[in-house]
Amino acid sequence: MKSVGLCRLSLYLLAAGAAVAQSPGTESQAATPQMLGISFPNSSGSTVMLTKDGKQYVIDVAAHTVREVPANQQLLAAGAASVNGVPDAATIFAKNCVSCHGPQGKGIAAIGTPNFADPLFQQSTSNKDISDAIHNGRGRMPAWTGKLSEAEISELEHYVRTFAPGAGSSTNTNTTPSSNEQKAKPNVYEAGDDVLVSLPTGRATERHGLYVNFAHRFAYDPAFTGAGRGEFLFGLDGFAIPSFGFRYGVTDKLNVSIYRAPSIVGRPIQLMAGYNLLDEHKGSPLNLEVRVSMEGQNTFRKNYTENIEGIFSKSITSRAQFYLVPTASFNDRPLVQDGSRSAEILDFPGVNAFSMGVGLTIDIRPTVSLLAEVIPTLVNGPELGIHRPAFSFGIQKKIYRHAFTLALTNSPGTTVSQRAATRASFLGDPSADTFGGLVLGFNITRQIR
Ligand code: HEC
Repeated sequence: MKSVGLCRLSLYLLAAGAAVAQSPGTESQAATPQMLGISFPNSSGSTVMLTKDGKQYVIDVAAHTVREVPANQQLLAAGAASVNGVPDAATIFAKNCVSCHGPQGKGIAAIGTPNFADPLFQQSTSNKDISDAIHNGRGRMPAWTGKLSEAEISELEHYVRTFAPGAGSSTNTNTTPSSNEQKAKPNVYEAGDDVLVSLPTGRATERHGLYVNFAHRFAYDPAFTGAGRGEFLFGLDGFAIPSFGFRYGVTDKLNVSIYRAPSIVGRPIQLMAGYNLLDEHKGSPLNLEVRVSMEGQNTFRKNYTENIEGIFSKSITSRAQFYLVPTASFNDRPLVQDGSRSAEILDFPGVNAFSMGVGLTIDIRPTVSLLAEVIPTLVNGPELGIHRPAFSFGIQKKIYRHAFTLALTNSPGTTVSQRAATRASFLGDPSADTFGGLVLGFNITRQIR
């Protein structure tokens, strides 16, 4: 971003004026703002737009600053206040956004707006984040869907990027696109959550992003069968198995997480590290995250299970994604109901197990996805009391930095080793893992920073 004083600004204006005065046929007319290449964005008292020598400048008279509109923006702006009827991005921004975001996009502390010129903001915010924020609103910011056209919103999405340091300088306009721009790649699916229902999506974390994951499984009351369904609200007021954890992006590739599930499933704590080796956003033919984790029952005091997973996923256009998750669990334990006291958590001998999770997600609307997954245990299932694969269906609402998923599942477990187990071993009822035994569950994920 360029900042020059008012003297420099008046020079620009004089030069523009001189150019106009020299051109034939204009001497007799009084200079109009259009002739000078100047326009006044509506409702902004302090901003002037100047077009000169094919370049465009946003001049803030109050702040004494001049910002050059980058060449790629100018194609859209082209010196006029509108192209094909769509006002240029700077004008739309000055009219609708400046009051809260400031003329330089630097944010206003009292309003709590972010500094668009901060490289960290630009790095940690994907194009989708920007698009979602403008469309749906964010915090105190109103939603703009309906108030601005899609074309205007799309121009603003690009415009927010032009506040990045160096984005306007000629040295930087033609370099390779930043990782954020690559995020806008068409035909790459954006998973809304860290899991489908229980199967991991392997989506990358943002660098220094912090995510909280909640999972509830109403493992006791089948949703559609059994007595007195109405009284139990499809199992929703039944006894729930609530688990939660945090996931943190050390970098945009390396993430660590801690996750805890309650006493009734052995009170495990799971520690995990994951690394994104391949990323479709960066041109790979598929995504691959590899994760290692360790679960310890009774709050990480005994019965340890070690897991290694490969999370392969591939976009089928930008609206659907296919997942394959081979998982090896060493010293895995059957999922049975344990008592609420530590002494009641049973000590089964560990067995090595291998499962192959398969999942699919399809966006039926821009922010609503349907999910399906099945996790057959291919090695040592019977040793763990698993006779049919764990399977789940869900519907997910993706909100800005949040996701809510409502699911039907036959599995009470949500840790890496427990997610392949079913209600049959949990309840000691062989029929509890069939369609009739599906129970409700939900997940909530929120990115908190
Ligand atoms: C009424 C005040 C207000 C107006 C008007 C407003 N914003 Fe915002 N905007 C905010 C606030 C407050 C935030 C921070 C919200 C938060 O992080 O909780 C924000 C955040 C953003 C973000 C960042 C989202 C992220 O990923 O963190 C973008 C991009 C944005 N606004 C763009 C715009 C655009 C473009 C306009 C004009 C069409 C606009 N805003 C108008 C108040 C406003």
